[in-house]
Amino acid sequence: MPDNQQKLIHTFSALADLGQEVAHKNNFQEMISTSLHLLLGSLAIMRGGVARYSRFGHELNFLAVRGLGDDFPLSASLEISDEKEFLNAGMTDIEVSQAKMLAFFQRYQKVLERKKIEIIMPLIIRDELVGLVFLGEKASGEPFTDLDRDIVRAMARHIGVGIHQRNLMVELERRADENRRLYDDMRLTYRDTVKAFATAIDCKDKYTEGHSVRVGKYSEIIAEELGWGEEEVEGVAVAGYLHDVGKLTVERNIINAPYRINAKESAELNKHPGVGYEILLPIHHPYTDVPLAAKYHHERLDGRGYPDGLSDSEIPYIAKIVNLADSFDAMTTDRPYKRRRPANEVIEDLKRNSGKQFAPEIVTAFYNGMLTELTGKDKRKRFRRLLGREYMESEGIVPLLKQALNGMDGTSSLTFIGAG
Ligand SMILES: [Fe+2]
Repeated sequence: MPDNQQKLIHTFSALADLGQEVAHKNNFQEMISTSLHLLLGSLAIMRGGVARYSRFGHELNFLAVRGLGDDFPLSASLEISDEKEFLNAGMTDIEVSQAKMLAFFQRYQKVLERKKIEIIMPLIIRDELVGLVFLGEKASGEPFTDLDRDIVRAMARHIGVGIHQRNLMVELERRADENRRLYDDMRLTYRDTVKAFATAIDCKDKYTEGHSVRVGKYSEIIAEELGWGEEEVEGVAVAGYLHDVGKLTVERNIINAPYRINAKESAELNKHPGVGYEILLPIHHPYTDVPLAAKYHHERLDGRGYPDGLSDSEIPYIAKIVNLADSFDAMTTDRPYKRRRPANEVIEDLKRNSGKQFAPEIVTAFYNGMLTELTGKDKRKRFRRLLGREYMESEGIVPLLKQALNGMDGTSSLTFIGAG
């Protein structure tokens, strides 16, 4: 078999290997080292290197070198004018001995000659200079033939594609990071806006200061106890913060009436869930159901709630959570016409109304949250911060909670009948 033919077969198999390297190697550095090894091996070249060009820093950084010695500089500056000259040359091999007029060669002439670099091949992919391949002399001492140069070009193209792909990946990751940061910023802004709204709602009602914020926090606890994911828990908390936003349009003297309001005033006040829904609906919330929680947080499982008298399965789950959180806060805070009720009474009340007003599994989740805090399993002291230490540690609460939990089957009887 003639020499040239043998060389071609050898080169084709090296090219196939190189193609696989570029396509499959996750380790970029290893891919470049293996590629250089294959390129030098297929032409029996003693030394060489592959450098990547960073347009941002106008720098050449060597990714792999072989046989160039410890004193070979592993990075070099590359001016924009150099870049232009290489781009003009295209993907053709440049002989160092013939390239003395180029500025890059003038600057690095000494080191290139000392290291006996004979050929430099610019790596140009999609009109972009992505790097350079440096090649020393052949082991045989013979000059490079046209076929050798064709082989260098073909293999260098593969290496160039590998570097280009890597650059794209890095850029993609950078943009993904940037998007993630922007998204996080937006979520923070949204959360701050929600909290500001909750404070504005609470300001309107001087007797229930901090109500919306507390309902948000109780709702969050319930969702956590139900084992919901982080995003869903946050969505429920937001729904709790905003559930009474409709009260912003109710007259201040109705909200702040120091007596039980009459039927007309009550009808006015009872519009707030519908108004809240209208306010929240056009806003793009990162979580679903926030407007529905506002609309249905006064519905009851037994259908005796308002505004629509929905029953169990018709009520959005998020609204059931906010309903319990809302009722619990109403029972445990002082109102102008009645004092807060003692903890044991409230616990009994939730149980008694379980299946009528409240979904039993939500009551169970709420009890569980309280009990894990009181027994020290949950160290966050969330209830204590919301209700005060004295209230949370009133006598007999722990056995009462345990007893209540034993009596709960965790399933809504109404849901059960409805499903059957
Ligand atoms: Fe309300």
